[in-house]
Amino acid sequence: MMIENKVQTGIISLIGNTPLIALEHFSKNFSFDVFGKLEMMNPGKSLKDRSSLKIIEDALDKGLINQKTTIIESTSGNMGIGLARLCAYLKIPLVLVVDPYINPQVLKILQLFKAKIVQVTQPDDKGGYLNTRLAKVKELLHNIKNSFTSNQYQNPNNPLSHTKTFDEIVETLGKAPDYMFVPTSTCGTLMGMAAQIKKGNYATKLIAVDALGSVIFGTPAQKRQIPGMGASCPSHFLNRDLVPHVVHMSDKESIAGCYKLLDKESILAGGSAGAVVGAIEKFAPQIEKDATVVALICDDGERYLDTIYNEDWVSNILLKS
Ligand SMILES: Cc1ncc(COP(=O)(O)O)c(C=O)c1O
Repeated sequence: MMIENKVQTGIISLIGNTPLIALEHFSKNFSFDVFGKLEMMNPGKSLKDRSSLKIIEDALDKGLINQKTTIIESTSGNMGIGLARLCAYLKIPLVLVVDPYINPQVLKILQLFKAKIVQVTQPDDKGGYLNTRLAKVKELLHNIKNSFTSNQYQNPNNPLSHTKTFDEIVETLGKAPDYMFVPTSTCGTLMGMAAQIKKGNYATKLIAVDALGSVIFGTPAQKRQIPGMGASCPSHFLNRDLVPHVVHMSDKESIAGCYKLLDKESILAGGSAGAVVGAIEKFAPQIEKDATVVALICDDGERYLDTIYNEDWVSNILLKS
């Protein structure tokens, strides 16, 4: 079988078409209806399965990669898991550049999928590891013959993969939502949705949800501890003209949102979902009665049992904030 024909079979065929559910208990606090788009229901338990698939599919289609190509990516979690499963399934070698903040459970999953792990140890000049990781990717691309970086930070297939996410929402609701709350890091998800809103000429108001201390929207850098959301360097994809509203969420507020989702809806989700829930509460006074609001629930919470869902870890964060 040609490798191209294998991309949409088996476990890979389960990527996307995630459920959209009414968050009825949470909605009771408001005069509008809130729905959750459960990206945590992808096989890799996050929205990054979509980006991984679109990037690899496109590179295969264009003949940029084959089973002898080594894929290289910098990641601290979900993108790594998306790529690791896909590359293992397609028998494509994968090298992931990670840093000391990597969650041990995520590391174990990456290793089970036989990804080669390169861990940087030297912080960059901003005290984080992103720039060191990216420098390592460059070095590996130079040193490994027939290598290719999926480059989630700049590959246009990252935002393109989320145009379908928005289409799915419109199809399920039978109309475009009035408000769409999306957490940000590379801004691939946000800009994919923005593109579809523009293309469909929808009246949907797109609300970016970013971490307090992230520099994406031009606010100063500060220490953040919730993984998945925020960035310490500007986004390559962001077009501010298409994103009129931004809500910044502190670690403490994002954690409170996670517990609200757990208590009200029995949904165990990651920190960016908690941030989205908190952002809807903050933004609620500006939302009209009977509006349809969609919250992107980006990843599953089981990977955060030792952090967001661990009392000691949370108390430590609260003490520092
Ligand atoms: C849990 C979670 N939420 C939100 C995001 C932000 O997505 P994007 O990189 O498309 O901005 C990510 C990205 O990795 C993530 O892992």
